[in-house]
Amino acid sequence: MAKSLFISNVLPEECRRLVPSGFEVDYNDSDQPLSKADLIKRLQGRGGLVCQIIATVDDEVLAVPGLKVVSNVAVGFNNIDVAAARRRGIVVTNTPEVLTETTADFAWALLMAAGRRVVEADRYARSGQWTVWKWDLLWGADVHGKTLGVVGFGRIGRAVARRALGFGMRVLYHDTVRADAAVERELNATVTDMDTLLRESDFITLHTLLSPETRHLINERTLRLMKKTAVLVNAARGPVVDEAALVRALTEGWIAAAGLDVFEDEPRIHPGLLALSNVTLTPHIASATLETRIAMGSLAVRNCLAVLDGKPPLTPVP
Ligand code: DGY
Repeated sequence: MAKSLFISNVLPEECRRLVPSGFEVDYNDSDQPLSKADLIKRLQGRGGLVCQIIATVDDEVLAVPGLKVVSNVAVGFNNIDVAAARRRGIVVTNTPEVLTETTADFAWALLMAAGRRVVEADRYARSGQWTVWKWDLLWGADVHGKTLGVVGFGRIGRAVARRALGFGMRVLYHDTVRADAAVERELNATVTDMDTLLRESDFITLHTLLSPETRHLINERTLRLMKKTAVLVNAARGPVVDEAALVRALTEGWIAAAGLDVFEDEPRIHPGLLALSNVTLTPHIASATLETRIAMGSLAVRNCLAVLDGKPPLTPVP
C-alpha cells in the first residue's frame, strides 16, 4: 500500500514518468473533478494522492485508511483540510517557487491590461467602430511612476514588486510579517498598514493565501478607501474579494478598473462582472505555461514519492 499513488487529474507525461517502477499508479486522465465518492473509491489502498485545486480533500477523504501524503499541484492549498490532515498525521505538500515568476508575469499582464484597457481596445478594434483616429479614444491610466500596493509580500508579491522597479514605481506593501530590510531596500518597498496602502496606491495587487482572516479582505469598506482611479488585480484566490461589493465599486465608480484571474465560486463568474467593460477577466490561468505546469507537476510527484519512500517532502505546506 505504501508504494501506491493516485493521480486524480490530467498530468503531463513528463511528470508521470518520474514515478519509478515498483510504485503502483492509478491515473485519472481527465480534467474534470471527481465526485467525493469517486475520489474516496479510487484512493482505497493508495498511500499517496497527487491532486489539483479542483479536488476537495476534506476530512472524509483524508480518512481513507493508509493515506500518507496529499500532494497538491498548486501553491495554494485551500482545497485541502490541512488541519484535519495534521490531526491524522498525513503530510500535505504544495508547489511553491516553481510558479512564482510565471504568476507574477501574469499579475503584471492583468495590471497592464486593466490599466491600459487592452481588452476593451481589442474588442473595439474588431468591432468595425474604428473609422478615424481619435484624440480621446480609450484613455487609460499611466503605470510608470505610479504607486503599487502589494497585499501579501511573499514570493509572488515580491516578484511583482520587482517588476515595478522597471516601471519606476513607488511600492507599498502590507503583510503580517515584515520583510527584511535588505529586501525592502532591493525592491524599494515600504511597509504600511492596510488602510494606508489602499488610500495611497494607484494599483493594488493581491497575493495573500486564502484564510479566515483574508476572506473578503477587499469589501465595501476597503474598496471605498481606494482612489477613484485605482486598479485592483487579483491573481491569488477569489474569495479574498467580495465580488458583489466589487461589482458595485466598478459600476458606481468607487474605483476605475480591475483585473481578475480568480473568482469566489469558480468556474462561475458573478454576472455583474460579466456585464462590465472595466474589468478584465481570465479563467485562473496565472501559472499556465508549459514549462511552469510541468515544473509544478514534477514537484508534486517528487513530493509524493519522497513521503512514500519514508523521506521528508521537498515542499510541505507551511
Ligand atoms: C496555485 O498554484 O495555487 C494556482 O492558483 C493554481 O495553479
